[in-house]
Amino acid sequence: MTTNVLDLRRIGRQYGTEPAVHALVDIDLAVARGEWISVTGPSGAGKSTLLNIIGCLDRPTSGKYFVDGIDTTTLSDDQRAGLRSRRIGFVFQAFHLMPYRSVLENVMLADLYRHERTTPGSVTPNRRARAIAAIERVGLGARADFLPTKLSGGERQRVAIARALVGSPSLLLCDEPTGNLDSKNSAAILDIFRKLNAEGLTLVVVTHDNDVAGRAARCVHIVDGRLRETRSAAPQPERVNPPAPAAPAGRPRLGSVGAYALVQTPVNRPTSAAQVSLSFVSVSFRLATFHR
Ligand SMILES: Nc1ncnc2c1ncn2[C@@H]1O[C@H](COP(=O)(O)OP(=O)(O)OP(=O)(O)O)[C@@H](O)[C@H]1O
Ligand SMILES: [Mg+2]
Repeated sequence: MTTNVLDLRRIGRQYGTEPAVHALVDIDLAVARGEWISVTGPSGAGKSTLLNIIGCLDRPTSGKYFVDGIDTTTLSDDQRAGLRSRRIGFVFQAFHLMPYRSVLENVMLADLYRHERTTPGSVTPNRRARAIAAIERVGLGARADFLPTKLSGGERQRVAIARALVGSPSLLLCDEPTGNLDSKNSAAILDIFRKLNAEGLTLVVVTHDNDVAGRAARCVHIVDGRLRETRSAAPQPERVNPPAPAAPAGRPRLGSVGAYALVQTPVNRPTSAAQVSLSFVSVSFRLATFHR
């Protein structure tokens, strides 16, 4: 029997008490490996709250949540952080890249941070090669030594996707990934999602954009914290995006990386999510390993 990647059973999330906000109410949702599912709904419906729980950034106040058959509701915060680092990648509307670090550095630092969470103190070989592979996977190999400020919005989001992929997650969670992009750049992101999904990555994409939602094979809709399945039929036809223009050749160079805090913060981030913040301050002191 195949275990679902995600299995939410009667998940509820209540904020406060006087008055209580019932952000999620009795959510049942099972997602199989390799599915691409979109989550739509009006503002305030509970989409980000749901994504935060799916990503183990937040805990439900009721119900059970399983990732690959593991009951996350019984795990400690550290155990949940380890699970997240090993299996889950995040992409947000605001790309949250470090503006003064190259594409390659942005991706390598994410890998360093992830590694510190999963196996603190050990040295990871091939960090650079892994980062380059992730960057090439999103078609930005020629931009590896560019600063994010020199990239288009779509390219920045592709870097954010590469950063999410460098840990080889089995699940990619995206909250409005095309919210800051025009239709051409959105199409490029959707093309990458299509390829990643074809390679077996499970995708959960929160979006307000019907075109983006339409690319998923399955769509669920949330209103007032209650979820309903709206479609599980075939996705809309793809738009194929032209390849990105080649950048000037050049060997990516890494400089030293000082203390820099990048907080990758979901909207309405609950307290427990502080652990997942890409806080590079802590890892910047381990930069002796950075160039290996
Ligand atoms: N930390 C919090 N404390 C109290 N209420 C919260 C908190 N986070 C979210 N909420 C409430 O929970 C509900 C769902 O919020 P959520 O951010 O999940 O909505 P959303 O569907 O992602 O909206 P949007 O499309 O605007 O991003 C809203 O009513 C919101 O005000
Ligand atoms: Mg939201």
